[in-house]
Amino acid sequence: MRLDHAGAPRVPSPARDCLGNTMPRPPLYPFARPAGRELPTELQQLAGRAPTRVELHDGTLAFLVTSDQGARDVLCNRAFSADATRPGYPVMSPGRAALTSRPTFLRQDAPEHDTLRRMVLPYFTARHIRALEPRLAATARKLTDAIAGAGSPADFVAGFAVPFPGRTIETLLGLRSDERIRSLTAALNTHAVDGPAKEQAATDLLAHLDDVVTEQSHNPRPGIIGDLVRNHLLTGKVTAQQIADTIRLLLTAGQETSAGMLALTLLDLAEDPRWRDQLTGPQPVAEAAIEELLRWHCVVHTGITRVAVENTAVQGVAIPAGTGVIISVLAANHDPTRYAKPDQMQPGRDNGASHLAFGRGIHQCLGQSLARAQLRIGLAAVADRFPGLHLIDKPLRFTPQNGIFSLETLPLAW
Ligand code: HEM
Repeated sequence: MRLDHAGAPRVPSPARDCLGNTMPRPPLYPFARPAGRELPTELQQLAGRAPTRVELHDGTLAFLVTSDQGARDVLCNRAFSADATRPGYPVMSPGRAALTSRPTFLRQDAPEHDTLRRMVLPYFTARHIRALEPRLAATARKLTDAIAGAGSPADFVAGFAVPFPGRTIETLLGLRSDERIRSLTAALNTHAVDGPAKEQAATDLLAHLDDVVTEQSHNPRPGIIGDLVRNHLLTGKVTAQQIADTIRLLLTAGQETSAGMLALTLLDLAEDPRWRDQLTGPQPVAEAAIEELLRWHCVVHTGITRVAVENTAVQGVAIPAGTGVIISVLAANHDPTRYAKPDQMQPGRDNGASHLAFGRGIHQCLGQSLARAQLRIGLAAVADRFPGLHLIDKPLRFTPQNGIFSLETLPLAW
C-alpha cells in the first residue's frame, strides 16, 4: 500500500496514458522531504533535468518540470493555462472544489486575470511599498518589543513570523484583525486536511468575505477593500463577488508565504551568526542575502500548477493538450546548470536575483515588493533587537504537509 506524504494509506489505482493503456507507475508526488529543510531526494536528483511523469494523490498523471529553463518555458507560454476548472488541471491534494468553485485571478487566464490583477496592482508597486516601509518598521518594532517584554525564550513563529505579515495585509486591506480568517486561510494552505474540510474552509472564508464587502459597500473603511468598493463596485466595473474573491486571494497568497519565509530565515539567523552581518548590513548587501534565502528555501515548495491547452513540448518532451504540469520552482532554483553549487547558500552570487521563488510570466507574484520589504525590515528588526539569538529546542517541526513550507514553532532564546 502506498503512503502519501502525510502518512495516510492510499488505494492504488492503475496508471494509464491518454489512450487508456496501463503504464509503469511513476513516483507519487509531492515527494516526502527527508528531514528538516533538505530538498526531497528525488528533487535533488531531478533538478535541471527534462520534465518527468509523476502520479498525484487521485491517481492522475502529470509532468513535473524541474529545470530553470523548463520552468521559464512553461510559465511564460500561453499554451499552458492556470484555469483550474479545465479538464486535466493537476490538484495536489483532495479538495478540488476549493480551487474551482469561485476561482481567484491566480487561477484565471487573460483577459479575466488581467482585469482583476490591474485592479489591485497599484497597491503593490515598488513605489507604493517603499512608502509603506515606516509602517512595516513600526509593526516589526511593536512585535519585537512584545517578545522582549515577555522575556526569553519565545516562539518566534507565533510571536513574529505569523503576525508580522498577517497584520500588514489586514491593515492594507482594511480588515479588522480576525482569528477565524487566519485559521480558515491556514486550512486552505495545508495538504493535510481532507477534501471536504478544505472545501468547507473555502466556503466559510468566502461567506465571511462576502459579508465584509457588503458591510463596506454601505460604509467603506480606509484600505484596499474600501477603495475597491468605491472605485470598482459602486461604479459597476466588477461584482461584489469578484471583490470578495480577490480579497481571498490577497489573504491566502500574502500571509502564509511571507510567514513561512520569515520562520525559515529566522532559523538561519539563529543558527549561523554570519547572517546577522548580512541582514543588518548596507541595504544592497541585505537585499542580496534575501534573494539567496528566497532562492534556497523557495517556500512554494510543492510547485506551481498549469494544464496544457494545446499539444506542446518542453525541453523536447511532448506534452499533449489536457495534461497537467507541475513546475517545481524549488527544483528549478537548485538547478546545477543554472547555479554553481546550488545546495550552498551564497549571498551575492552572480545570478542570485533571477530565481523563480516568485514565479514568472503573467502570474508572477503580485506581492513580491511587499514580501522583500517584509523580509528585509523584519529580519533586521529581530537581528538588532536580539543580538544573542539562538535555538533552544530540537528537533524542529517543519510543515512538509503544507503547500507553503514553514516551521510549526521556532523556540529561540537571547
Ligand atoms: C516570500 C513570500 C512570497 C512568495 C515566495 C510568493 C510566491 C508566489 C508565487 C510563486 C506566485 C505565482 C503562482 C503561479 O504562477 O501560479 C505568486 C503569486 C501571487 N502572489 Fe505571491 N508570494 C509571496 C508573497 C506574497 C505577498 C506578500 C502577497 C501580497 C498580497 C502576494 C500576492 C500574490 C498574488 C496576488 C499572486 C497571484 C498573481 C497573479 O495570478 O497574477 N504574494 N506568489
